[in-house]
Amino acid sequence: MGWRTGATAGWKRIEADEHFYGFGERTGFLDKLSEVKTNWTIDALDYNSLSDEMYQAIAFYIALNPDRAYGIFFNTTFWSQFDIGAEQPGVLRMETRGPELDYYIIYGPEPAQIIATYTQLTGRMPIPPKWALGYHQCRWSYESEDVVRELAKEFRDRAIPCDVIHLDIDYMRGYRVFTWSPKRFPDPAKLIADLKAAGFKVVTIVDPGVKYEPEADYEIFDRGVENDYFVRTAEGKLFHGYVWPDKAVFPDFLRPEVRQWWGELHKTLTDMGIAGIWNDMNEPAIAERPFGDGGEHISFPLNAPQGPESDRATHAQTHNLYGLMMAKACAEGLQKLRSGYRSFVLTRSGFAGVQRYSSVWMGDNQSQWEHLEMSLPMLCNMGLSGVAFVGCDIGGFAGNATAELFARWMQVGMLYPLMRGHSAMSTAQHEPWVFGDRTEKICREYINLRYQLLPYIYTLFWEAATAGTPILRPLLYHFPRDRATYHLYDQVLLGPSLMAAPVYRPGVEHRAVYLPEGTWYDWWTGECYQGPMHILAHAPLERMPLYVRGGGIIAIAPVKQFVSEEPLESLKMRIWPGSGEWTLYEDDGHSFEHEKGVSATTNYKVYVEEEKIIVEIAAREGQFSISEREVIVEVVGVGEQRFTDDGTVRRLTFG
Ligand code: GLC
Repeated sequence: MGWRTGATAGWKRIEADEHFYGFGERTGFLDKLSEVKTNWTIDALDYNSLSDEMYQAIAFYIALNPDRAYGIFFNTTFWSQFDIGAEQPGVLRMETRGPELDYYIIYGPEPAQIIATYTQLTGRMPIPPKWALGYHQCRWSYESEDVVRELAKEFRDRAIPCDVIHLDIDYMRGYRVFTWSPKRFPDPAKLIADLKAAGFKVVTIVDPGVKYEPEADYEIFDRGVENDYFVRTAEGKLFHGYVWPDKAVFPDFLRPEVRQWWGELHKTLTDMGIAGIWNDMNEPAIAERPFGDGGEHISFPLNAPQGPESDRATHAQTHNLYGLMMAKACAEGLQKLRSGYRSFVLTRSGFAGVQRYSSVWMGDNQSQWEHLEMSLPMLCNMGLSGVAFVGCDIGGFAGNATAELFARWMQVGMLYPLMRGHSAMSTAQHEPWVFGDRTEKICREYINLRYQLLPYIYTLFWEAATAGTPILRPLLYHFPRDRATYHLYDQVLLGPSLMAAPVYRPGVEHRAVYLPEGTWYDWWTGECYQGPMHILAHAPLERMPLYVRGGGIIAIAPVKQFVSEEPLESLKMRIWPGSGEWTLYEDDGHSFEHEKGVSATTNYKVYVEEEKIIVEIAAREGQFSISEREVIVEVVGVGEQRFTDDGTVRRLTFG
């Protein structure tokens, strides 16, 4: 280790054949060897594969070689940086602009144990409301009640499932947080109630910048100033920057009383029926784009004091925590305001442990093939950094998708733990139907597939909540001894069994697919392969290549237009020949009763015995009651059996 004024650093040897993953939100592909990764939250506008700083700052990585893996969590909130052999090959440098070299080494030997331990340390996510796993539609902006009603109607008329509509900044009165535009949203309560009746939840955006508006009866500004809740400069002056509402001030979320106040402010939204909040611009973003007042670029002064009196810190020390603390304020506020109901929280910025409060999306991506391609390794590295509930804007945020790009993106989007379509102001519309019949049909099919897979995906969320397990996984997560997976960024596993090999280039209808050791089945045709091997998959526009491991067990629900609050009245278990085991998790999907044990788990096992395939279903456990229902067990390529499921033990023989 070494230090100088204002910085502390440590150096580690990089072993031969060692690879580096995680690092939170990162562009590019999977392995970060020979790159520099800085941990400092910024508004990563126009990011690309060479970008370094991003919206999130998570100073955690996993080092993997064919013998073992270990993780390092660099416990510093200050600006910090990893140089993974860039300056000096074979040497990793970790440096912080803080006074201590404080880090945790977490032994594996496999990535799964490292993430379990890392999330034991930094926290795990609560199980979100089940509807948050459905399809979300967003745009900057659906700018009036009429537009939103029309949007909702299109989804239902066209039978494209959708659960959530997001309202971007234009629902507010002049971008004043916690207000509604009386002109464009004259009766939000009625709008939201009508949408609710049609099976939609509404999520509104909330930015941290509070319009600077003395003597204008803007309650939020007045109360904030009165109670001294906004960040001040070291000289004691109210700090301001320029964001959507022009001149704005920024709450000091590091202080508990400010978080409590902010949390309670969400009442203006929850009273109208809002079920989730989208936190944006909380890096905090002020310097990166020319906003307001002649495009002045103002940065947060690094010496601005923040945090409670008893534990005062500077902005330099707390900058990376701003988004995390805003998300915390929001999540805790919603928990109180929507008593008994789980809420959805989404944040752009965050820090290690952000999973405790919020889901995360990868900010302003672009409608380009390269961004579609990059979305999977980005989300995989987030999952390897303890943040499982993540997504990218389907279709791309900035720019205009083509029909082909959009269709391919919807296929990939079906795999995102957070499945949200979004697009920027002044870009082409990006709803599933705007590109014509063929694209609409593809979107419907893949959104339908998402809804069919919800019992499987919901169980993955439960695993993430209980063990920190990523939902979307790079292949190296399950095959850490297989070198062929170390750079394999364009294939992913959704949970343990389902593998996708999407197409992310225009005009491409074939692609190479790597099948690691074991038996693999083509999801669509049932064709069987013995890995390890490479195959050339045929993937016309209608098809995203999907594979299931032998012994894979996937619970399938009937397609619904939105997530229902009732327990599944019927269920299909698709099981692929081989040996495997899987536990289905169920609860009411919306309350906190599961925390008191009101949930249900059912263990399924498959194995081969004397050339027959045996499926064993254990007795259902837990206090969540499910009425008798029909369960179909399909052993793919072998046969199907139905029974009335009353939660008791079963043993089925196939073949
Ligand atoms: C930021 C967000 C984007 C949002 C826009 C307007 O660019 O990243 O998602 O639509 O602000 O609020």
